[in-house]
Amino acid sequence: MDSCLNSAIDTPWRRAVISVDQFSRGDIDEIFELADRLATGRTTPLGGKMIANVFYEPSTRTSSSFYSAMTRLGGSAIPINEVNYSSVTKGESLEDTIRTLECYCDLIVLRHFENDATERAMAVSSIPIINAGNGTGEHPTQALLDLYTIKKERGGLDGLTVSMMGDLKFGRTVHSLTKLLRMYDSRMRFVAPAALAMPSEYVWPADAQFTDLDDVIADSDVLYVTRVQTERIPGAEDFDFSYAVTPEHMARARDDMVLMHPLPRVGEIPPELDADPRAAYFRQMKYGLHVRMALLYAMIGNV
Ligand code: CP
Repeated sequence: MDSCLNSAIDTPWRRAVISVDQFSRGDIDEIFELADRLATGRTTPLGGKMIANVFYEPSTRTSSSFYSAMTRLGGSAIPINEVNYSSVTKGESLEDTIRTLECYCDLIVLRHFENDATERAMAVSSIPIINAGNGTGEHPTQALLDLYTIKKERGGLDGLTVSMMGDLKFGRTVHSLTKLLRMYDSRMRFVAPAALAMPSEYVWPADAQFTDLDDVIADSDVLYVTRVQTERIPGAEDFDFSYAVTPEHMARARDDMVLMHPLPRVGEIPPELDADPRAAYFRQMKYGLHVRMALLYAMIGNV
């Protein structure tokens, strides 16, 4: 298995995955090739290694898939999936929590509600950190698995028209994925209620912005949908941000369009669309397991 990794190259992301800005196309190719190999192989190169999942916000997919990835590679995981049952409730700082867990494991997967949490953790940690979502900032491993999904479903990444619909302001997955797609000459279409529009730092002059899915559905190669991040919007209950993909939209979409969602969904894609072969959001989770296996192996497999 080691032969598929250029372990001689010590890149910064192998010590800490903070942002997708750290990855080149070559890095991504390497991670995806490794994901392909780990998906089909039965190998336990991380035997004896341990990670800690430290989640200050709820998670199903990210925490479970890192746990599963580590276990499938022969390692194990400390699951602090709800810090309210840890010494955080006694007032322990993030820094002290990180310094505690680095005594017990080889890598920390951290989700936190503050945007600077990964940097704060890195500043005190002697072991690698993976950002599993930092406030409204980024979710880099989700973006990598999203990109891997697009590659698997479409057969390539260059020159696609990608439409994103939903809470583009607070949704960190769309921020990270947009940055990655810039490397592949994608045409970006952003569809959101005005109050949830994509922040200007992610928007390029050639991008098109809309408030109605009808304006983009027919010419999209990929439609990436997100939920409203109500937990980050003060007074969210007073707003009606309702939007959804309907069977009528899908009737107008291309036969090879890929419908994606990072999940959880809360009404943006009705279950009646799940049987549509273009609905890739469950396959997306499986691809994510393989990408996270690749990241763990690349970061601590040769140490
Ligand atoms: N997509 C994602 O991050 O899901 P979880 O919040 O369940 O981890």
